[in-house]
Amino acid sequence: MTTAGTLPAPATFPPRPQMDTEALYAQAAADRLGFWAEQGRRLSWDKPFTTVLDDTESPFYRWFTDGTLNASANCLDRHVAAGRGDRVAYHWHGEEGETRTITYAALLEEVQRFANALKGLGVTAGDVVGIHLPMIPEAIVAMLACARIGALHNVVFGGFAPQAVGERMAACGAKALVTVDGARRKGRVTAVKQALEEVLETLPDLEHVVVVGAAEAPCPMRPGRDSWYAGLCAAADPECPAVPLPAEHPLFILYSSGSTAAPKGVVHTTGGYLTGVSYTHRVVFDLAPERDVWFCTADIGWITGHSYLVYGPLLNGVTSVLFEGAPDHPHKGVWWELVERYGVTQLYTAPTAIRAAMSWGEELPGRYDLSSLRLLGSCGEPIDPTAWHWYHRVIGGGRCPVVDTWWQTETGSIMIAPLPGATGTKPGSATRPLPGVSAELLDADGTPVTGGTGLLALTEPWPSMLRTLYGDDERYLVTYFSRFGKDTYLVGDAARLDEDGCFWILGRTDDVINVSGHRLSTAEVESAVAAHPAVADVAVVAIPDELTGQAVVAFVTPAGGRPGDAALETELRRHIAVRIGKLARPKRIVWAADLPKTRSGKIMRRLLRDLLTGQETGDVTTLGEPDVMAALTAAVTHPIH
Ligand code: PRX
Repeated sequence: MTTAGTLPAPATFPPRPQMDTEALYAQAAADRLGFWAEQGRRLSWDKPFTTVLDDTESPFYRWFTDGTLNASANCLDRHVAAGRGDRVAYHWHGEEGETRTITYAALLEEVQRFANALKGLGVTAGDVVGIHLPMIPEAIVAMLACARIGALHNVVFGGFAPQAVGERMAACGAKALVTVDGARRKGRVTAVKQALEEVLETLPDLEHVVVVGAAEAPCPMRPGRDSWYAGLCAAADPECPAVPLPAEHPLFILYSSGSTAAPKGVVHTTGGYLTGVSYTHRVVFDLAPERDVWFCTADIGWITGHSYLVYGPLLNGVTSVLFEGAPDHPHKGVWWELVERYGVTQLYTAPTAIRAAMSWGEELPGRYDLSSLRLLGSCGEPIDPTAWHWYHRVIGGGRCPVVDTWWQTETGSIMIAPLPGATGTKPGSATRPLPGVSAELLDADGTPVTGGTGLLALTEPWPSMLRTLYGDDERYLVTYFSRFGKDTYLVGDAARLDEDGCFWILGRTDDVINVSGHRLSTAEVESAVAAHPAVADVAVVAIPDELTGQAVVAFVTPAGGRPGDAALETELRRHIAVRIGKLARPKRIVWAADLPKTRSGKIMRRLLRDLLTGQETGDVTTLGEPDVMAALTAAVTHPIH
């Protein structure tokens, strides 16, 4: 990898933005709340708001409190009412090349039917509906149908294992779950519903399971609880008026990994979240809805899928490509084939995918006509300058600006990114906070620093911020607002601020691992490993990885003094895939007779990281058993197999 900033970068975007970006910065700086109010008013409100921000109970901020609106009406009805019902909302492209073209009008009709179906099952405003689906249009229908009647959706990534799905359903008391008979992945079908059966039995709050028939997989159905999506929709009334909801009505819960084993249920509400995603999607990607074809490669189960595959594009009335498959199936050039086929104008993906494409060679994208592309986006992890330049040169043909966008599940929408026409780009830096966003770098005492490295903080509330962690206000306060007080949102990332006021994100400061742009918590992986009877102790750390950004390494002490071997390694990797998902499988397992611990028994992960990256292990004076490190060094350098 190249060191940040060593390659020359195009200084600015081509001067062709759809808006006056300099004016946006100036306006937001002069009157931040007035600026956000103006962004909020771009939505369609049943009752317009008069209050912009209520901060009387900070950090439980409330935005646009006295207004009412509906998310699905904003995404669909208003475009159809304005005569744009025939515009394509999604070009869906299936794994094996099948296609479906879904207009705004068609999407609205199906959303209304499914909203009525949910109502028929007894789902009402405030109930939680789980969604565990692959990248099929029904996933979007289900989200918007929930939003239409005020139910909260809780989407769980399709790649998560049944147990992880069950935990996330239990934690939010989901009343219904929408899932699928089978999910296709690289030519194989997984019987999703069948695999969930056991876990479903353990969920006392779960009354209904709706199954989308997508893959003709074996699918047991329990009478009284389970129903087929298609049957429900066919029987449902095609009209379901959108319910006007208070701006602060929760729109969804999305579980994300934190520092402990229990995932955090990030809660986003309606008015503020929609304001943030529609604004950022429009300005960062220089959208022209009547002309653009947007392709966001994120899975719907992550925040990027929520904000920039569903809500942002639909709010802005854009046509999107929705791709079911993996980037290397049926062939490694499939994304570029889709760009050519649909005339994609903006592509939004993660550095890990760019690095994979780099490793497959330039020749593949070279086979397709990528000249429709105007802008390229990146998010989820730092993009190293080598990947940035490759993306710019090979995919963007040297013409397209690359926008590196920094944000989080909690922020709901992009916070730091260059703006077309206004901000110079620097490969490796997400550059400056967007208009309306206040980001600062703080030292360990919370004093702002104007250069060098520090802790990234957001120092003013913003509309699309999380409101709390579901059912756990205390954890919300402690996680984000305890270290520097209730007015300063602690991001959890370290960053560097350069002389131009540009931020360079360095990575997490907590025990969160970022594998291929997906968040995992060391604690969650550790508790899964520790649950295996053959394991006595475990510590999980992240190491840098060329392809996935970071990779998981597990130090494991087998139970009963037995030595680690290849069979146990295979078994543990399988066990982790079953408990959490394949994503969490360690790249490497190191057998450790003992783990380095402080005298109070806290595992010193820092030492393990140093060991793996070949660094001096530094201060070991707090170690309870100083000899542990020598044995571990041998285990790392001379693995048993
Ligand atoms: O560490 C930062 C990294 O991803 C974290 C947020 O992960 P998640 O909530 O899963 O949201 C992913 C969707 C954006 C951040 O705390 N991160 C995200 N974007 C960038 C990034 N690191 C560097 N550069 C980015 N552009």
